[in-house]
Amino acid sequence: MPEATIESVLQEGRVFHPPAELAASARIGSMEAYRALAAEAESDPEAFWGRLAREHLHWFEPFDTVLDWSQPPFATWFGGGRTNLSVNCLDRHLDGPRADKTALIWEGEPGDTRRFTYRELHAAVCRAANALRALGIGKGDLVALYMPMVPEAAIAMLACARIGAPHSVVFGGFSAEALRDRLIDGQAKLVITADGGFRKDKAVALKPAVDAALADGAAPSVEHVLVVRRTEQDCAMAEGRDLWWHELVDGQSADCPAEPMESEDRLFVLYTSGSTGKPKGVVHTTAGYNLWAHLTFQWIFDIREDDVHWCTADVGWITGHSYIVYGPLSNGATTVMYEGAPRPSKPGAFWEVIQKHRVSIFYTAPTAIRAFMKSGREVPDQYDMGTLRILGTVGEPINPEAWMWYRDVIGGDRCPVVDTWWQTETGGVMISPLPGATPTKPGSCTLPLPGIAADIVDLEGRSQPADAGGYLAVRRPWPGMMRTVHGDPERFRKSYWEHIRPADGSWLYFAGDGARRDADGYFWVMGRVDDVINVSGHRLGTMEIESALVSHPAVAEAAVVGRPDELKGEGIVAFVTLEAGRSGDDALMAELRGHVGQEIGPIARPDVIRFSDALPKTRSGKIMRRILRALAAGEEVSGDTSTLEDRSVLDQLRV
Ligand code: WTA
Repeated sequence: MPEATIESVLQEGRVFHPPAELAASARIGSMEAYRALAAEAESDPEAFWGRLAREHLHWFEPFDTVLDWSQPPFATWFGGGRTNLSVNCLDRHLDGPRADKTALIWEGEPGDTRRFTYRELHAAVCRAANALRALGIGKGDLVALYMPMVPEAAIAMLACARIGAPHSVVFGGFSAEALRDRLIDGQAKLVITADGGFRKDKAVALKPAVDAALADGAAPSVEHVLVVRRTEQDCAMAEGRDLWWHELVDGQSADCPAEPMESEDRLFVLYTSGSTGKPKGVVHTTAGYNLWAHLTFQWIFDIREDDVHWCTADVGWITGHSYIVYGPLSNGATTVMYEGAPRPSKPGAFWEVIQKHRVSIFYTAPTAIRAFMKSGREVPDQYDMGTLRILGTVGEPINPEAWMWYRDVIGGDRCPVVDTWWQTETGGVMISPLPGATPTKPGSCTLPLPGIAADIVDLEGRSQPADAGGYLAVRRPWPGMMRTVHGDPERFRKSYWEHIRPADGSWLYFAGDGARRDADGYFWVMGRVDDVINVSGHRLGTMEIESALVSHPAVAEAAVVGRPDELKGEGIVAFVTLEAGRSGDDALMAELRGHVGQEIGPIARPDVIRFSDALPKTRSGKIMRRILRALAAGEEVSGDTSTLEDRSVLDQLRV
């Protein structure tokens, strides 16, 4: 938990109002309409959520209770109901004109394109679902996905949902070791992967990492590996274990009845970094998650029938789950999936996709926007992006200058920018402008969505006055909230519900961000207050990186902190003490960076490693991260250092 008080220095006075034309046709087209919805939720939350769940989802069986909060923090939503996410995303669009509407546009990095109508996507998902059943996968069996950004990733997710097999998507940039840990923790029965994917003009292999993860029977729960052919690079196939997707899936029937799932059946497990210990398997369940992904997508992007929505996230992250796949498809929208990234050979890659596919809603991360700013407006200015009407950002705080640039250069000074605050744990967006209603201020995610009781509090849960910093917490459960940590309910309680303890015994959800609220009630997120680093919008636990460093034979002890980074938001600085007889030179530094890349993945490699004889510790042996953070940022160490056990350590670290 935080050592320092939370202070905000950002002053920002600009306000932008929704375009009149957008407001006139928007679902929620004024602040009055927003307030009316929020008031409905406030006056009777259960009636509110019950109404929305009935109106927006298909139910095989209606639910008979809305919320059971009798055993907090474990919530049960829509008890007694039965639904299926793939039916909500596919089948229910097949009765009318949407059947032949484009559901998914996929753009491969080399420029190949694939399109699926709702009817075609439904057939593809049914075939894949039948293939999974043929492999003995049934309700409750966990399927891990370790995939490049190809349509089969979305198809596999939907196929799992169709037969009630929870999926666990592991980001394709993670290492074999990270994959193995997740396969073991989740007890995965099947891994779906590909030979490789195209990344920065190269074919990058994926399958070898799966082979390494499974080597020596390390993850014995895994019975089969299903491999999509993408790059056509050489790919070893283990007899009896590995199967080609096209050989197994293509011949299946395109008819596959969906499993009527109970509302609280597990839908997916997605691993995310916390402040302590190994990654947490965040568990989301069927009905509540579906409702939240559906509603938030509809509200925040004010989706229209002819929109083309593109979210640039990877499906390995929650943003990809909720806003490439489930939110858009549940709403019958057209969603774009792009395999590539801007790269030296194609700095305008994103803008080309927007121009080519006439994208109208574009959702990306501040780290990407800052990189675009750096290479100048000459690049985007070469493309026609007149189809855009709404821009979104997610993943980390956006600095006002990047926000202004985004609005101005990408949005032609006419598209509203929705800065959306949320987390893996929240399932969908929690705080965000509504493009037809909310006046925006650069750098603020503005106001909580209807039904979301977000607040800025102190450690006793007392609301903080305007402009005072505090902890960003949520006072009431909501349908899309995570239900537990896979296999560790106690960790769920400890990680999210115990930091803030109101005197009246009520329960507040807190997942690690500091923020303030201004006099208009607008939220300004300042970043993490725990030991989590946000590198380019990716959450990394300092603890995981430290464990990776310490697993190297040369390292005795390691402490990892973030430091501000102009492009990535935060960079990683590691302070390392070595085993006797080892000396910290450039070669070892390179070796350690490679080692962390191997253990977790390239995104976790420290930018800087500093060797020293000791780390600054309190007399009780706790590493003083506040000091390390100041040192890493090149700042003077201020504040109290009297608890430091050995002050000479400071001089050594200062270099
Ligand atoms: C940060 C990504 C400021 C925050 C959806 C949060 C943000 C963490 C914003 C969750 C935003 C996300 N403004 N900070 N608009 N969006 N964050 O689980 O620190 O990968 O706790 O979910 O990202 O990261 P996660």
